[in-house]
Amino acid sequence: MTAATHTPRVLSGIKPSGGLTLGNYLGAIKRFVDMQGQDYETIYCVADLHAITVWQDPAELKNATREVAAGFLASGIDPTKSILFNQASVPQHAELGWIFNCVARVGWMNRMTQFKDKAGKNSEAVSLGLYAYPALMAADILIYHATHVPVGEDQKQHVELTRDIATKFNNDFKAENFFPLCEPIIEGPATRVMNLRDGSKKMSKSGESDMERINMTDDADTIAKKFKKAKTDPEPLPESLDGLKERPEARNLVNIYAALSEQSSEAVIGEFGGEGWGKFKPALAELAVEKLAPISAEMKRLMDDPAEIDRLLLNGSEAAQAIAEPILQQTYDIVGLLRPRR
Ligand code: AMP
Ligand code: TRP
Repeated sequence: MTAATHTPRVLSGIKPSGGLTLGNYLGAIKRFVDMQGQDYETIYCVADLHAITVWQDPAELKNATREVAAGFLASGIDPTKSILFNQASVPQHAELGWIFNCVARVGWMNRMTQFKDKAGKNSEAVSLGLYAYPALMAADILIYHATHVPVGEDQKQHVELTRDIATKFNNDFKAENFFPLCEPIIEGPATRVMNLRDGSKKMSKSGESDMERINMTDDADTIAKKFKKAKTDPEPLPESLDGLKERPEARNLVNIYAALSEQSSEAVIGEFGGEGWGKFKPALAELAVEKLAPISAEMKRLMDDPAEIDRLLLNGSEAAQAIAEPILQQTYDIVGLLRPRR
């Protein structure tokens, strides 16, 4: 079996660890929707097993899982075109994840910059799962023999680790090309959306202040207020992209505008170069409201019918398992694991 014989297959995921942000939308979900229309088989998961690498309140996790699913659906993921499910309902991920824990090397995990950032000075007290999670992410991808992985910039190193795990597995077990070498797809002007109050930090679900991020469920007034108060510098927008090099906050807002309006950052500078923030920020707020308001309204509508979301996720998990189970069984055979059968 060679990787070249696989259909191009896309896999990506998002953790239900707090509300979805504009970073998730532009860096991930919007691009998942774009890939759905192309010549790929598309598989997307709500990565609940990843979320619990840090504490999640059990009373909220199911709701948060449904809300991420609603975010996918409301943004345009179509369950008749893509497979959409939550990771915990497809046990093959965790099963392959264990095998990959035995393939990946501790030295590789020690180089993961996201772990170092998240663990900080507290690295003795974080969960073992947080340390091992890139091996589970590799399993998420490789349990489908996926070839393309659309992600934001912060996940690039984990997709590269996935390639290392695939290569080592294939070599160690002399299973040439069994696991394909997947490509990270990190494209467009908003692969790293930054915090609105500090342009050196990524916009994330869990920052201290709600003012630093746009949530996909924010109402129009909140979105306008957050962009109005977003940190900038006193200069007007430059006439060329080069002029944004040393201006992280300004660059971030231009990139957000570009991604929302589906044009390049150059084109945005072409339109707004020389203008002050008094003109650009209201235009950005208006554009963001125009794009996000229908999505957040649809998320609310979907969340009123959790049984319908569960039904869609169940269909997705059955379709996912139909692909994953044969690959897991082949993997067990390659590794030499006995499964006595009746
Ligand atoms: P997470 O919320 O950590 O599960 O991330 C899910 C997806 O959203 C991943 O592909 C991330 O790279 C992407 N993502 C999260 N935050 C950002 C951001 N600030 N800018 C761009 N992409 C992001
Ligand atoms: N680990 C990713 C994040 O924290 C989410 C994720 C889980 C993922 N499984 C994945 C992304 C598989 C791509 C492929 O952002």
